[in-house]
Amino acid sequence: MARGYFITFEGLDGSGKTTQLKRLAAWLEAHGRSVVTTRQPGGTLLGDRVRSLLLDSKTTGIAPMTELALMFADRAQSIAEIIQPALDAGSIVLCDRYSDSTEAYQGGGRQLGTAPVRDLHQIICGDLQPDLTLLLLPDFEASLARARRRNERNASKQSNGPDENRFERENNEFYRRVYDQYHAIAEREPLRVVTIAGDASIEDIHQQICTIVAERLADRNRPSLGIPV
Ligand code: ADP
Ligand code: TYD
Repeated sequence: MARGYFITFEGLDGSGKTTQLKRLAAWLEAHGRSVVTTRQPGGTLLGDRVRSLLLDSKTTGIAPMTELALMFADRAQSIAEIIQPALDAGSIVLCDRYSDSTEAYQGGGRQLGTAPVRDLHQIICGDLQPDLTLLLLPDFEASLARARRRNERNASKQSNGPDENRFERENNEFYRRVYDQYHAIAEREPLRVVTIAGDASIEDIHQQICTIVAERLADRNRPSLGIPV
């Protein structure tokens, strides 16, 4: 069976990843594709426990290297339990955040640098790279304001729901470094990473994403001309 296709969504908190991932999943399924969706951190039983440790704002004093190691521990489990089996079964995997988040947030935001993130990715993820990464980069301020509004809405809806605000409490300098690191990743890997910048409606961005994904899947299925390069 042909290997599936691995797509990741990246961007700041509030950039619209979760919204677009759900819409793309529905669109692919409506076209008869087998789709598996997941997110990081989380998605597995162990990963959900790591997620609450990492995102709960009551968790204090995590050393940056501990945070980095926990992100990769979660990812190793997600690859073993979800991503690799789904790719082996020929599915399209849609993952909300992956190693680019670690490079942006721990490498950039926490200033650990790119090297330890890429080294750990090699060792822990066997260098499993997405076939396509959709990087959503609306205006910096708009993104963060949306994430904060969403979190306030969720908190007032479910007073005993999970508290996932630890990162959202970081200051703008932290997020500016994350944003800059995302730009650096996109410049370094222009084939894998497609950037969708600027403020467009949810529907417009969905249409752009469908066009990109349809082209990539068609390219992949097109028989090669057999001309050696
Ligand atoms: P993320 O998963 O990147 O944190 P979400 O998909 O949860 O982002 O979106 C955060 C909030 O912003 C949600 O309330 C969502 O409805 C809203 N939103 C998402 N995309 C857009 C957009 N293009 N324009 C305006 N609001 C948006
Ligand atoms: P999540 O709610 O999934 O993201 P969003 O707010 O965009 O919907 O929260 C995940 C948080 O964890 C987010 O602030 C980014 C952070 N994170 C890292 O710092 N490093 C990582 O490797 C990953 C996967 C996430």
